[in-house]
Amino acid sequence: MKLIIDTDPGVDDALAIVYAAADPGIELLGLTTVFGNVTVAQATRNALHLVERIGRDVPVAQGAAQPLVLPPFAPSHHVHGPEGFGALAAPLPRGAPHTESAAEFLCRTVREHPGDVVVCPIGPITNIAAAIEMDPGFATNVREIVVMGGALDAPGNVTPFAEANTYHDPHALDVVLASGAPITMVGLDVTLRVLLTDTDFDLVAASNIANGPFLKDISRFYLDFYRSIGLTGCGLHDPMTLIAARHPELFSGERTPLSVDLEGPAIGKTRRTHGRPSVNVLLDCDAEAIKARFLDALVDPS
Ligand code: BDR
Ligand code: CA
Repeated sequence: MKLIIDTDPGVDDALAIVYAAADPGIELLGLTTVFGNVTVAQATRNALHLVERIGRDVPVAQGAAQPLVLPPFAPSHHVHGPEGFGALAAPLPRGAPHTESAAEFLCRTVREHPGDVVVCPIGPITNIAAAIEMDPGFATNVREIVVMGGALDAPGNVTPFAEANTYHDPHALDVVLASGAPITMVGLDVTLRVLLTDTDFDLVAASNIANGPFLKDISRFYLDFYRSIGLTGCGLHDPMTLIAARHPELFSGERTPLSVDLEGPAIGKTRRTHGRPSVNVLLDCDAEAIKARFLDALVDPS
C-alpha cells in the first residue's frame, strides 16, 4: 500500500510513523507536516528526525502553519510535551525539508500514481483541503483518505463535542468531506477503544526494534496526560488510522454524509447530514486484534 502520512508529531504520530516503517505491507512515499500538537516548523523537524530514526530516505514536505479560516491555535504542549516528544528535547535533524510544499507534494505524488496512493491525515487536515483546492483531480486520483479525526456518536476530547484534529481546523475537514474523495473517518468512536499502558511500552522498549526505548521515553509524558483525565492508558489514535487503512476487516461502521459545525459551542463537531457525498465512518472495532497488530509489528517486525 503506497502511503503518505500527513502529520503533526506528536507522540502518537511518532508511534504511527514507526508502525508504518515496521509494517512490510506499507510503502511510505513521504510525510507532510502541519501545525497542531506543535508548530509546523517543529512538526517538520520532528518528522525529519523520525525518518532518520526509521532509516527511510523519504521526503518531508512542510505544510500549513495555521487553519484555513480560524486564527492560529496554541500547540497542544500539555498533551505532547513542549517539543512534541513528551519530556524529551527534540533532536535537531540532519536532513532538510523538501522544496515542494505539502499540498504540492500531495498533488504531484497522487497524480503520478492515480488510484494507488492512500493518504492518512493524522493532524489537522488543512494540507489535504489545500491539495483539493489546488488540484481538482486530487479527490478522484487519491485511492483513499483515511483520516484520524472527528467523533460521531462519541464525545469530543477537547470540548464535549469536538475531537482535537477537527477542532483545530473544522473548515478544512468540511472541505474534504464535501470533495467526493473516498474517505474513511477514524474518529474517537474507535480510537479510544484501544489504550496503550505502561506494560505495553515496557514490551516495546524490551523488544529488538531499535526505536523501542525512544518510543517508551516519549510516551511517559503522554501517558501521564491520559492518567490525569482518568484513563488507564493512552489512546491509539494515529497508529489506529494506519491499521484501519491496512486491515479494514478489523472495523465496522456506517456510510453516511457528514458535515462539521463551523461555529457556535459545538464547533468542530462531526454530524450526519444530507446532500453530501457519503463517507465511511468507523464506529466499532476488534480492539484486542488491533492492539495485537500494533504490538506484533513493533515487537516482532518481520
Ligand atoms: C489527535 O489529536 C492529537 O493530539 C493526536 O496526535 C491525534 O492525532 C487525537 O484527537
Ligand atoms: Ca496527530
